Amino acid sequence: MYLSREEEKILEGESGEGFATAMKLLVALGEMFDADKLIDVSRAHWAVSGQEGDLFFAEKLANFGAKTTVPTTTNPAWDISLKDIFNVKVSDYELSLLDRTIAASDKLGVIKSFSCTPYLYKDVPKIGEHVAFSESSATPYINSVYGAMTNRESSSSALASGVIGKTPNYGLHLKENRIPNVLVSVNFKIKNDFDLGLLGWYLGEILKPDDVPFIEGIDTEPSPEALRDFGAMMNTSGAVSLFHIENFTPEAKSVKEPSTWIKGDQKITVNEEDINLLKKKFSSSSGKINSVYMGCPHSTIEEIIKVNNLLGDRKVKEDVQFLIFTSATNMKILGEANLKKLAGKGVYVLRDSCVDEPVFKFTEGGLGVTNSLKAAYYRKRRNQEFVITSIENCVEASVRGYI
Ligand code: F3S
Repeated sequence: MYLSREEEKILEGESGEGFATAMKLLVALGEMFDADKLIDVSRAHWAVSGQEGDLFFAEKLANFGAKTTVPTTTNPAWDISLKDIFNVKVSDYELSLLDRTIAASDKLGVIKSFSCTPYLYKDVPKIGEHVAFSESSATPYINSVYGAMTNRESSSSALASGVIGKTPNYGLHLKENRIPNVLVSVNFKIKNDFDLGLLGWYLGEILKPDDVPFIEGIDTEPSPEALRDFGAMMNTSGAVSLFHIENFTPEAKSVKEPSTWIKGDQKITVNEEDINLLKKKFSSSSGKINSVYMGCPHSTIEEIIKVNNLLGDRKVKEDVQFLIFTSATNMKILGEANLKKLAGKGVYVLRDSCVDEPVFKFTEGGLGVTNSLKAAYYRKRRNQEFVITSIENCVEASVRGYI
């Protein structure tokens, strides 16, 4: 891979060991994928998860004096105040992971957004902009909905790009790799955001990592939440980083004849029965619930308002924990009064936090409901079963206390 003299100097350590280490990772990545050179990125999203694996590289960079040079947002960890609110015991080690995440973030000069969906309210790139985004929903949203360009970065490679301000020129940074190669025909009516999330999971299980699906048959304009969930699920059950939707996503709209744009003759037809089978396979049997998990990926303001409206004057059953994960920014916009109103109905809106963190031990061992297959997938590893269903059904179950 070609390096300019300036890039070579960084690699040789002229800007310090932290920058040299970040550059070493980018060069190794570029050489592995046959990139011709490094290109500039304007921003990065670092999917740090408050876990040992991500911290190893981050602390190395931070301790060697690296600092981000382009705006770099962060994924959620967990809000320390939840420990006392829910009276949860976390081990010293679990607590230290959170402290170390915050300390490394401060040293690296990242933006502590602590949200997995900063691209929905703040971090919005333009069409054609080169960026380095990690996180399952972020990568496909940035590529597909905004038409910006990013590879499916790991948290470490996204952070290295945030430090150097560059990424190797390969994969989805090249226009020829963004051409669809699989035609997906949706043979049923998408009724709500939840259906699109299910479709995403289903396709992720079938498609290969380099596949770029072109999707036809979605006849109503998908909401931002539906597109967020579609990409998140497809990138959790599989590794698909770019999709095109007929008459909707920018690159699909820019071609005159989408049918002649698709390379090859791979075709997938998805029927309603396929989706229903997936839902069944993923859901536990009905019963008494102890929790509702919403906001994996982080909920929008509109979704939180929807929960409030669906509840009306009713309250969540006493022994059910209704948890909605969102960003601190969204909570600020919602305002204290609205959050208090929701808390009065038994709904906790939580900032800075991810469902896959130790502070939610108090729901382990029980049955929950969620609108997110991703939440169910991660929480299952923490010994919690789920029925997956729409937001509407989650709210009804929370009032009844069972599903
Ligand atoms: Fe976000 Fe954590 Fe879910 S990062 S997408 S809340 S697993």
